[in-house]
Amino acid sequence: MNQESLDLQALKDFALNTATEAGQLIQQAREQNSFEKDYKDQQELVTSADIAADKLIIERIRAAYPSHKILTEETCKDKSLANDLEHPIWIIDPIDGTVNFAHGQMMVAVSIALAFAGEVQVGVVHNPFMDETFVATSEEASTLNGRSIHVSGLSDLQKALVATGFPYNKSTVPEIMERVEKVLMHCQDIRRLGSAALDICWVACGRLDAYFESLSPWDFAAARLIAQQAGATCGHFCQVPEDIPACIYNHHLLIATPDVYLPLDDLLRPTVRS
Ligand code: IPD
Ligand code: CA
Ligand code: CA
Repeated sequence: MNQESLDLQALKDFALNTATEAGQLIQQAREQNSFEKDYKDQQELVTSADIAADKLIIERIRAAYPSHKILTEETCKDKSLANDLEHPIWIIDPIDGTVNFAHGQMMVAVSIALAFAGEVQVGVVHNPFMDETFVATSEEASTLNGRSIHVSGLSDLQKALVATGFPYNKSTVPEIMERVEKVLMHCQDIRRLGSAALDICWVACGRLDAYFESLSPWDFAAARLIAQQAGATCGHFCQVPEDIPACIYNHHLLIATPDVYLPLDDLLRPTVRS
């Protein structure tokens, strides 16, 4: 691959502009109440705004970077594409926090990541309703609206505020509840804010001390880089298969301010069913 053609600053600016444009589309859809709701597998909420934002982002990428691969939640969803992160691939969640979006809540984000050379290199998570944009590249520290951010630095697990989420598919709820109980018994409190990408960015800027959940790559690819470049420890409370890059492995993610990472890993790991 010709690395010289991949100008990180230009790619970051492109991702930022595209996320902002998609954010405007989403905001307008809410203001005008002009979106329809549907359910994937009769369970998972999706709106016409999710699809429209997805298509808009794809259109912008195809025009600017026609040779790049694209993985999105709604219309280019072949997850096997992400097995190869050597060649440029965009990993997109057009609306992370769809349930919040449809209920008029604020924790809603557009998430855009670009990976190449085996790693996520650019991450943008934009919340149009709170006017907050988190950005990082593999070569720069993370920012929120242009200002540098850092994890909380907390060291006492008992004081930790921890976020998690729950999948649409309810089959794993019993084992998740075991983890929730352990976290509630050993930490200050737990939050379920409804957008994994924002949960992780909130760890990056110190509003939360840790986050754990199993997700899809589009939910966290951008936010994980943002957390990492803000000083978070990013890993998994399970074994990562050797043939899958850790930066997109989606099971049992754990992202935390460094000193609470290992105590939380100890707490969560025994509940993983093989
Ligand atoms: C969901 C959100 C939620 C998480 C779910 C995700 P969506 O994404 O990130 O916080 O708990 O696992 O599926 O459906 O709003 O894009
Ligand atoms: Ca999502
Ligand atoms: Ca989504």
